[in-house]
Amino acid sequence: MSAQDDDKRLAAEASSIMVQDGMLVGLGTGSTVAYLLTAIAARRVTATYVCTSPRTQAIATGLGLDVRPFDGITRLDVAIDGADQVDPDFWLVKGGGAAHTREKLIAAAADRFVVIVDSSKLVDAIRAPIPLELMAFGLSSTLERLGDTELRDVPPSPDGGVIADYRGAVDDPALLAARLSSTPGVVEHGLFGPHLVSGVIVGRDGQATWLQRRSAQSG
Ligand code: 5RP
Repeated sequence: MSAQDDDKRLAAEASSIMVQDGMLVGLGTGSTVAYLLTAIAARRVTATYVCTSPRTQAIATGLGLDVRPFDGITRLDVAIDGADQVDPDFWLVKGGGAAHTREKLIAAAADRFVVIVDSSKLVDAIRAPIPLELMAFGLSSTLERLGDTELRDVPPSPDGGVIADYRGAVDDPALLAARLSSTPGVVEHGLFGPHLVSGVIVGRDGQATWLQRRSAQSG
């Protein structure tokens, strides 16, 4: 296992103790989350899970976890997911695995949303690409309005959305998030604001630690 994979595993294992008997838990998508699924299964916790992607659902079900559809559920105790970028204020970029729309819905429903990353995901400032999910209807017109956006050569999302990446400048993630959210044809974007994030666990140099948020440090 590479040092990076080991750091992903350490962050995932550290987060797995948040999953307790009787909880309703949201499970993210990606290679870091794959370590989480193994760690949860090994702990034999009696919890119930909702998944952000068919991939995660298949692994979780294969490991014997009690997976339910995200249907008739209004809130989750905790959701745990990876990220592609984490900045010092806890702005995230997600969607490297094209699951960002479902990931955001599950993060928003969770009392606590915990992010697990290896240290390669920590950035000084958020930069492109920013994953997008777009409506297939009127796609050319949406791309024209967005500018600087490339379609990604991957299958549509499970909800029929077209996956693309915004490759323009990211001067201010909040302003870009507001612009993307208000662009007709954009189903969802991969910028997750700090208001969604309860905490970040980073695997670094063979240890897992909770990251301090810059704005929290400065009061
Ligand atoms: C999927 C995601 C993933 O959480 C993100 O891409 C990180 O993946 P990995 O843990 O494999 O590095 O947002 O849509």
